[in-house]
Amino acid sequence: MQYSNNFVRLNLHNQFEAMQRTKALRLFSKYDEGVRINKTMMYSITKEVIANKIAEICKQKGYKYVVDGCSGAGGNTIAFASHGIQTASVEYNQENLYDCIHNSEIYGVNEDIQFFHGDITYFDCLKETGFDPAQTLFFCSPEWGGPNYIQNTVFDLEQLQPRLTKLLKYARETGYAESCYYLPRSSDLEQLERNGCTEVNYMFQAGRCDAICAWFN
Ligand SMILES: C[S@@+](CC[C@H](N)C(=O)[O-])C[C@H]1O[C@@H](n2cnc3c(N)ncnc32)[C@H](O)[C@@H]1O
Repeated sequence: MQYSNNFVRLNLHNQFEAMQRTKALRLFSKYDEGVRINKTMMYSITKEVIANKIAEICKQKGYKYVVDGCSGAGGNTIAFASHGIQTASVEYNQENLYDCIHNSEIYGVNEDIQFFHGDITYFDCLKETGFDPAQTLFFCSPEWGGPNYIQNTVFDLEQLQPRLTKLLKYARETGYAESCYYLPRSSDLEQLERNGCTEVNYMFQAGRCDAICAWFN
């Protein structure tokens, strides 16, 4: 009896590990090659398929340079660099920044990325990059506040961390050509419009809208 209990527990543990691996592979297809994802970032990283779609849109819009203002473990940063876009990556959490650098190495794009440790709303990294502001997109995937964001039918964009208005102020004052934010699909569209949003892309994966990208001048 004791043996069979342990056996069940072992199987459940293996099932959980298998589920985590399947999820991690959706975030990074090279997960099995040593990609690092910490527990918090498991719920925050942009899925690779979607990150690649965003990078393609940026290329189509003619952007040569992107500053990724909240780079996390590198989901978007790696996709931009893999699409030949010169990328600068900013992150204030040191553990996440190290994971971002490590993961970029696994994807073979670390040499093409400039990494900065700091708070994007206080630190003007654009000058340091040498990128031409007129050809640079400011991209940001801020924190949505964990899985609880799903409970709100309409997501208040001032709950983002950093807040949307703070990010917009930073991007406009710094002189980027445009800025683009990766946001919950339930984002308040009126709030986006009030803040001057010019375009919204619905990001679909497997027939389901995962999130939106909101563009601003
Ligand atoms: C949603 S995650 C980004 C995920 C990333 N796009 C990826 O695919 O891995 C948000 C990240 O922004 C960072 N962050 C939040 N506020 C920041 C700030 N003011 N400056 C720089 N990084 C910030 C957090 O530490 C977190 O790693």
